[in-house]
Amino acid sequence: MQTILKAEQISKTYGNGKALVHALISCSLAFDKGEFVAIVGKSGCGKSTLLRILGTLDVPDTGSVLLDGEDVLHLPDRRLSEIRRRKIGFIYQDYSLFPEYTAYENIILPLHLDGRREEKDAVMEIMETLGIASCKEKFPSEMSGGEQQRTAIARALILSPSVILADEPTGNLDAENAKEVVCLLNRASRQYRQTILMVTHDRQTADYADRILHMRDGKITSG
Ligand SMILES: Nc1ncnc2c1ncn2[C@@H]1O[C@H](COP(=O)(O)OP(=O)(O)O)[C@@H](O)[C@H]1O
Ligand SMILES: [Mg+2]
Repeated sequence: MQTILKAEQISKTYGNGKALVHALISCSLAFDKGEFVAIVGKSGCGKSTLLRILGTLDVPDTGSVLLDGEDVLHLPDRRLSEIRRRKIGFIYQDYSLFPEYTAYENIILPLHLDGRREEKDAVMEIMETLGIASCKEKFPSEMSGGEQQRTAIARALILSPSVILADEPTGNLDAENAKEVVCLLNRASRQYRQTILMVTHDRQTADYADRILHMRDGKITSG
């Protein structure tokens, strides 16, 4: 198995003086290409901090993060933004779509930001796979929560990133839509050999993953 993402001994402390919060304490992790991993743990245990650091949106106080063998903590800004755009896809609980753009426009945004034009057939294929072809011209306010999250998934998949980081992607969905979204993520990881790290509160959602990492008080306790 090929390791795609690796973190060694990463720690992160917030605050200063007396009010220190040790959000991550010496966490070491490795993820294989194509793995679908769930990260579970109580609120405040450090899940989002971990995901942000693995996604290069934040830096740890100590430790190292390697993506595709490249040390992402010591890179020029330009290279870092390139990696963020091309190698990492993010999915959030609140979908984070742009309200003034249609579903289609939201999905192709990462391509445009990368200076590329979209291939319409390829975009429609992704939309069809995710069951949102009928939302092409719709704005987020005209779509259900499930449709909005599937649009956000399509946007994360459009550049075929090696790693997809999803922070509570099913948090705002009812049970049926949650199941559908997690099944789609599961399928994407198999079909495109994408590594997916998904934070979740929900045990049933976690069960779709190949592996479950448990976190407690800033530490990885198992998995
Ligand atoms: N920007 C921040 N400033 C200060 N404390 C923070 C910040 N972000 C997170 N924390 C604290 O770090 C801990 C871990 O937070 P977080 O990673 O968001 O946990 P989770 O996602 O598991 O709920 C919590 O105690 C939280 O309050
Ligand atoms: Mg969180």
